[in-house]
Amino acid sequence: MSEQTGDIRKLTTLLEVSQSLSGTLNLKAALHRVLETLERHHGMIGSAVMLLSEDTGEIHTEALNGLTSDNHSVHQMGEGITGRVIESGKPIVIPQVSREPALIRRRSREELSFISVPITLNRKPVGALGVDLRFKKDRDYDRSVKFLKVVASMIAQALKVQRSVEAERRRLLDENIHLQQELRERYDFSNIIGTSGPMRQVYEQVSQVARTNTTVLIRGESGTGKELIAHAIHYNSLRARKPFIKVSCAALPDTLIESELFGYEKGAFTGAQARKKGRFEMAEGGTLFLDEIGDLNLSTQVKLLRVLQEREFERLGGAETVKVNVRLIAATNKDLEQAIAEGGFREDLYYRLNVFAIFVPPLRERKPDVLLLADHFLEKYAREHGKNIKRISTPAIDMITAYHWPGNVRELENCIERAALVCEGHAIHGHHLPPTLQTASASGTVTRLSMTAAIEAYEKDLILDALKTTRGNRARAAALLGTTERILGYKVKKYAIDCNRFR
Ligand SMILES: Nc1ncnc2c1ncn2[C@@H]1O[C@H](COP(=O)(O)OP(=O)(O)OP(=O)(O)O)[C@@H](O)[C@H]1O
Ligand SMILES: [Mg+2]
Repeated sequence: MSEQTGDIRKLTTLLEVSQSLSGTLNLKAALHRVLETLERHHGMIGSAVMLLSEDTGEIHTEALNGLTSDNHSVHQMGEGITGRVIESGKPIVIPQVSREPALIRRRSREELSFISVPITLNRKPVGALGVDLRFKKDRDYDRSVKFLKVVASMIAQALKVQRSVEAERRRLLDENIHLQQELRERYDFSNIIGTSGPMRQVYEQVSQVARTNTTVLIRGESGTGKELIAHAIHYNSLRARKPFIKVSCAALPDTLIESELFGYEKGAFTGAQARKKGRFEMAEGGTLFLDEIGDLNLSTQVKLLRVLQEREFERLGGAETVKVNVRLIAATNKDLEQAIAEGGFREDLYYRLNVFAIFVPPLRERKPDVLLLADHFLEKYAREHGKNIKRISTPAIDMITAYHWPGNVRELENCIERAALVCEGHAIHGHHLPPTLQTASASGTVTRLSMTAAIEAYEKDLILDALKTTRGNRARAAALLGTTERILGYKVKKYAIDCNRFR
């Protein structure tokens, strides 16, 4: 054979080897193909890739083609020819296997040669490529070693990719377990604050329904904690280890919501370059949370109804029917009954959703919870912003309890976060709270008022209190204060009090 054909054959081999190694993340299978290529083009009778295991420090066979003269059961560093190659990082050539006691002499009629080259990763030997060749007196072993070293370095590259992918996969897995744990803790009942009667009723409903597969409709004003309750249901259900997927029906334009929910097939529309899973499929085995369901358009309502009835759907542009096992939780702050009357919401869908309804009460109906929540948020945001704030001053507490919280828990949370941010001492004072909460009674932190100002502040405070008690009813407030409605009206105007605030 001429040197030229020999070189072409080597190049062909290297090309095949590189194709085998780059084509897959299954290293074992790729190595098998590499060894087969070596056998086919170079008459290698047996070949093996041995690797040093990172955890045990033992050398094991990763891939084997035929048999090799070296022992390929598990062995230690320094043991056998392969063990020595991996220990020293240097190739070993045994021209005549029959003369080497460390090798197994197979009962083959012909004499064999054995070559082992190290596989090196980050300048450290991590394995060896060993081959058996037919013994030839005039064989140029240096050339063979050089060639095998190139193959070994290609294997090393593939190994590097595989190990970093594996490390990344393990990292993600760990992170995932950690995050799941965190989520379970975050949505644990103990993190939902409130001991008032209405909230206790909510907890009871959540625990009644969590472990079933019943569809739940959560209703309540904006910022009352509907999403929190949806999470609590999922994380206290048998589906807790499966995904919780949220779709905000109001955030997506009508044209996108269907592909978001049901996914699409490749070519379903311009730009659909590959099949995409919808949220229903992503939630398989778990819970799908449809937030702001009252904003869903009518044509999507029809499709949703079908999924609720038949537990199946088709992806956009597809004929295949997809079956799903998904628990549905929906939430809305809209008056669905009115939406039905106005033709904006389908009645049949409403009945399918309204199997088990949970009403999350507005904050003004659970006054006892307001301070608990305020303390909870103070602790949370003081920690988050690294502040050493210990308490809320009495006047500030009065302001917080007097306010009617139209934005509910979310507004309270924002208010406390802001206070924690601007507070430089150990206590939240009235002036740390937003202007909407400022009343004369509460600005007790403002000292040195003139007598007139102090009296006016006291007067305003009395009126606010009375209006609070009577929910903004002026006649009853006047009676409570022992004055006339006309005088009260005048004072209300003077102090720019908005009576509607107390309704
Ligand atoms: N009982 C509670 N205990 C602790 N935090 C709460 C409670 N209720 C609500 N929150 C907090 O208040 C904020 C608003 O709650 P959430 O987003 O669940 O309200 P929502 O009802 O979904 O509001 P919207 O209708 O505006 O979407 C969140 O940060 C939530 O963690
Ligand atoms: Mg919400």
